[in-house]
Amino acid sequence: MKITFGALTAPRGGALVLGLFDGAALGGPAARVDEATGGAIARAIGSSRFTGKPGQTELLLAPPGTEARRILLLGLGKPDELDAKAAEAAGGTVVAKLAKCGDETATVALDAAISGAHAAHLGYGALLRSYRFDKYRTREKAEDKPSLASMKIATAAHAAAREAFAPLSRVAEGVFLTRDLVSEPANVIFPKSLAERAGELAELGVKVQVIGPAQMKKFGMGALLGVAQGSAHEPRMVVLRWRGLPDTAEKTPIAFVGKGVTFDTGGISIKPSGGMEDMKWDMGGAGVVIGLMKALAGRQAKVDAVGLVGLVENMPSATAQRPGDVVTTMSGQTVEVINTDAEGRLVLGDVLWYCQEKFKPHTIIDLATLTGAIIISLGHENAGLFSNDDALSERLIAAGAAVGEPVWRMPLDEAYDKQIDSDIADMKNVGGREGGAITAAQFLQRFVKEGVGWAHLDIAGVTWSKKDAPVVPKGGTAFGVRLLDELVRANYEAR
Ligand code: BES
Ligand code: MN
Ligand code: ZN
Repeated sequence: MKITFGALTAPRGGALVLGLFDGAALGGPAARVDEATGGAIARAIGSSRFTGKPGQTELLLAPPGTEARRILLLGLGKPDELDAKAAEAAGGTVVAKLAKCGDETATVALDAAISGAHAAHLGYGALLRSYRFDKYRTREKAEDKPSLASMKIATAAHAAAREAFAPLSRVAEGVFLTRDLVSEPANVIFPKSLAERAGELAELGVKVQVIGPAQMKKFGMGALLGVAQGSAHEPRMVVLRWRGLPDTAEKTPIAFVGKGVTFDTGGISIKPSGGMEDMKWDMGGAGVVIGLMKALAGRQAKVDAVGLVGLVENMPSATAQRPGDVVTTMSGQTVEVINTDAEGRLVLGDVLWYCQEKFKPHTIIDLATLTGAIIISLGHENAGLFSNDDALSERLIAAGAAVGEPVWRMPLDEAYDKQIDSDIADMKNVGGREGGAITAAQFLQRFVKEGVGWAHLDIAGVTWSKKDAPVVPKGGTAFGVRLLDELVRANYEAR
C-alpha cells in the first residue's frame, strides 16, 4: 500500500477517516466535516457507542455534504496516552476496516494536536497491516480482494511526518521480506534458494558471503553437517555484513544469528504428521536476521552489524543421522545426538562458534524457533529471552515493549546445564521434557565464549500467528525484526 502525507484537502471519492480523541469535543477537521454534513458526525456518535477509545470505529455510508463515499470515525484514545505504538495500532485498524470496502483511497484527517512523529507511526501501522501473502492465489474473486491501494495522511505536520516515515518504511520492507520468507513453502525455500534470496541484499550495500558444505567440512562444523546429511538439499551458511560506520570507527560488530531449518520433519526421530506443515517456518530465526539486515541497510543505520544464518533441511533418509550418533562441533566439543528432532541447537552451536571465531562480536543475539516447550511456558504472547548479560536483557525487554514485540526473561543456571551432560560425550542434545526451553538455551550457551554478551530469543511461539493483530495480519509475523531494529536504534547506533 502506498502511504503519503499532505495538507488536508476535501477528498473527492474514497474514504475519509476522522481520528477522534476519547470523550473530546469535535475539533479541527472533524468539526469542519460535521458542519459540512449538517451534523452527521455528532449524530453518528450520539446514536452509537463510539466515544473514541483505542480500536473503536464507526462507519457512515454516503454521507451528504461531502464527496467522500464513506466516513470512518477512528478512536485514538486519550490524547496523553497516544504514543508510537498506539498510533500504529490505529493505522492498522483503519486498514482492517477499509481494506475490502471497495474504495481504493483513504484520507486520514488528523487534528493539529497530533505530532508529525505520531502521524508517521499511524502510516507505518497501516502499512504493516496491509501485508498479504497472496502470490499463490489464482482464483480469488474480485470482491474478496483488497481494494484499498493508497492512504493519504492529512496533517498540518506533514513535512515532519514524511521525514519520520522514511526510515520506518525501510523497516517495513525488512518485515515484509521476513514474512514472505516464512510464508513460502519448503519446496520453494530450501537452503540454496534461501541463500539466494539473502544474496539480494547485496543491492543495498550488504556484503554477502555464502558458505557451502565443502567449506563447512574444513571448518569442522560436524553438528550442522550431521543435521543436513539426511537431506537431498545441501546446507548453506550465509554471512551478511552491514558496515554503517565510517571506516575509522571501531570494527567489532554486533552479531545476529538465526536458525534456518527450511523444513523440520524431526529426522529419524520423526514428528507426528498432524501439523507438520508448520515446520516450513522453522527457518523463522534466519528469516528475521535476513529481514533485519535489510531494514538496517535500507535505513542506512549507523552500526557495524553482521548477520549469520545456518540453513539446513532436517529429513529422515538412508543417509540421515541416527539417534545415538556422536558428532564433533567446530568448537571441538562432542555431542551425543539423542533426538534428531532437537536439530536447531546443533545448527546454532556451529554457527555461533564460527561467528565468534571470525568476527569477534561484542554482542550476539540469536533467534530460533527452538522449542515447543517455550510455547508451553509463554504461549504466543512473549518470546523467551535467555541471556548471560543483565544490561543486554534490559535493553531487549525495553525495545520489545516499545514496538509491541514483548520478550520475557527465562533463567539459565548450572543446575539446568547438568541436565545435558552425556555419559559418552561432552553433552547430549536433549535434557528431558522438564524445562525443555531452558536446557535448549543451556546447550547454546556452551558455544558462547567468555566475555561475549549473548542473548537467545526462542521465537517458536511468536513466529506464526493464527489470528489478526492490529499491525500483524495472521500468518508470518516477522516478530524480531522491529524489536532488534529498535534495539540497534536505541543502543548501538552512532549519532
Ligand atoms: N522446530 C522445533 C520446535 C518447534 C515446535 C517450533 C513447535 C515451532 C513449533 C524444534 O526443532 C523441535 O523439534 N524441538 C523439539 C525438541 C525436543 C526433541 C527436545 C521439541 O520442542 O519438541
Ligand atoms: Mn526439530
Ligand atoms: Zn526445528
